[in-house]
Amino acid sequence: MTDLIPWKEEYSVGVEETDNQHKELFKMLNILLDSINNDNDRKSIDKVLEDMVNYVDFHFKSEETYTARLPNFTAHRLEHWEFVKQTMDYQKRFSNNKDVTAQEIFNFLFNWLKKHIIETDINDFRYLREHGLL
Ligand SMILES: [Fe+2]
Repeated sequence: MTDLIPWKEEYSVGVEETDNQHKELFKMLNILLDSINNDNDRKSIDKVLEDMVNYVDFHFKSEETYTARLPNFTAHRLEHWEFVKQTMDYQKRFSNNKDVTAQEIFNFLFNWLKKHIIETDINDFRYLREHGLL
């Protein structure tokens, strides 16, 4: 399976553990996109959205063991909370009443993730590194 949206070096926060988790999230996004392209395979979309909800919970808890050392930790954590809330909501809506398309969900997940990694994670991990907090 070729990744339509590959993880790129420019997404690196400089901590392998966190980068690997981000790569895992990209893997799930690629599965989601593949399922959409594969006739909107509903079973596989439901499954990957559920996996996503579970994995982001694990990932944010793990990432926050680093970002909790930030002076502005609350702002970073709020972004995570908003994302978890939104992702859970989309996952439930998709599996229950189906008033949202998988493509809309994919667009949200992909855009949010890319933006958050580039604008928030990378900057905050740089701050931690520069202040000897990693
Ligand atoms: Fe983050």
